[in-house]
Amino acid sequence: MSENTVFHHYNITRADREKQMNQKSFVLWFTGLSGSGKSTIANAVEQQLFNNGYKTYTLDGDNIRQGINKGLTFTAEDRAENLRRIAEVAKLFVDSGQICIAAFVSPTIKDREIVKHIIGEKDFVEVFVDTPLEICEQRDVKGLYAKARKGEIKNFTGISAPYEAPIDPEVRVKTQNKTIEASAKEVYDYITNNLK
Ligand code: ADX
Repeated sequence: MSENTVFHHYNITRADREKQMNQKSFVLWFTGLSGSGKSTIANAVEQQLFNNGYKTYTLDGDNIRQGINKGLTFTAEDRAENLRRIAEVAKLFVDSGQICIAAFVSPTIKDREIVKHIIGEKDFVEVFVDTPLEICEQRDVKGLYAKARKGEIKNFTGISAPYEAPIDPEVRVKTQNKTIEASAKEVYDYITNNLK
């Protein structure tokens, strides 16, 4: 309920915070299938940013769903609510002057459009972790694809629920036959070349 609330403006602005941290804040949004390598690459990119003095924080689907979004399922409606809340949280991180890394399946173009709209287009950098379904399923790091194939998990992205690849992401990482370091470098290089 936002009725009867009045937005209060605080003295310290985003610009003040960015200046103090000597960086520009934005959201680096990783999308891709479960097991595509989003979290792994996000982790490696964050490490590299951290080592170079950037102030960052990472929001990860598996982790967030054990905390603030505990109780949300994987229906289209609950995914939309999951992502709406995350986008609002990411927006707060941007306002705090930090670089917010987000790793979520975020399966539909519409979901990601809403996320982009909440965060603001100029602060949203989309990274598509482009790993074919066959590879994700072969790896099956968490054993979820096997369960989804047996019908033990409903609405599983790529198996029984859709995944719509981004059409024009800022970065597309084809992870096949590539090391984690090489994939992370592609993302890191994009950031440092384009967002100074
Ligand atoms: S999203 O679709 O709402 O963006 P999110 O990134 O938060 O998904 O969570 C995805 C993670 O939850 C996957 O990496 C996987 O470990 C787990 N998971 C459990 N059930 C499902 C499902 N039905 N579809 C996709 N991922 C699932």
